[in-house]
Amino acid sequence: MMNVIRAKDYADMSAKAADLIFAQLLMKPDSVLGLATGSSVLGLYAKLIEHHRRGALDFSSAKTFNLDEYVGLAESDEQSYRYYMNENLFRHINIKRENTHVPDGAAKDAVAECTRYGALLDQFGGADIQLLGLGLNGHIGFNEPDGHFEKDVHVVDLDESTIQANARFFADERQVPRQAITMGIQSIMRAEAIVLCVSGKQKAGILKAVLCGPVTPGVPGSILQFHRNVTVVADAEALSEVG
Ligand code: GLP
Repeated sequence: MMNVIRAKDYADMSAKAADLIFAQLLMKPDSVLGLATGSSVLGLYAKLIEHHRRGALDFSSAKTFNLDEYVGLAESDEQSYRYYMNENLFRHINIKRENTHVPDGAAKDAVAECTRYGALLDQFGGADIQLLGLGLNGHIGFNEPDGHFEKDVHVVDLDESTIQANARFFADERQVPRQAITMGIQSIMRAEAIVLCVSGKQKAGILKAVLCGPVTPGVPGSILQFHRNVTVVADAEALSEVG
């Protein structure tokens, strides 16, 4: 059974989800934080920066592992997830660069990079708390709807719908990479705790399927029903189809 925290709107969702990360770091300052990118978690990162600036939150011994990265984008590329993390969180807080981990999108051999990243995550024993957003098609990380659940870190071909949804961040759709490196379902599900942030009317249908539908690789987020400690922080619009 997933815990659901009902938020009024995006700002309220961001504040409530940030409180969960805040609490985790208070309890365990050297936590391994599993991080996500995208619009859903931007406000949450802004809140964490606020908490840090007022002296309440210390990241000096925290470690982070991001879920995913586009294949072919280097960290200097403004559309890369490493760039997003540097700009929207890391450079505003006192985290050590060497404690932050994002798959290397510019690696010559993407498959070898998956093996390296997975082994590193193993070394740290997985995340203490994993943040997730939800794709319009139900993806978590970049685990796209498929005939089966993919276990480990892997290279994935992005769905046409994902390419279109993410085109808003690029000059035009043709520039969106066609592949990504993503944590697999087991890499995500091994986290001690999971926080899923969902906002907006356009996610209402898919959130209902994730929370109440059958567990199926056709809706990758539905696997979260099997995790023992998931908190869904969602706003009223996103929850509008759930009773
Ligand atoms: C993106 C990312 C996911 C993210 C999701 C939702 O494609 N790969 O990690 O959680 O899709 O994005 P957004 O929050 O912008 O709706």
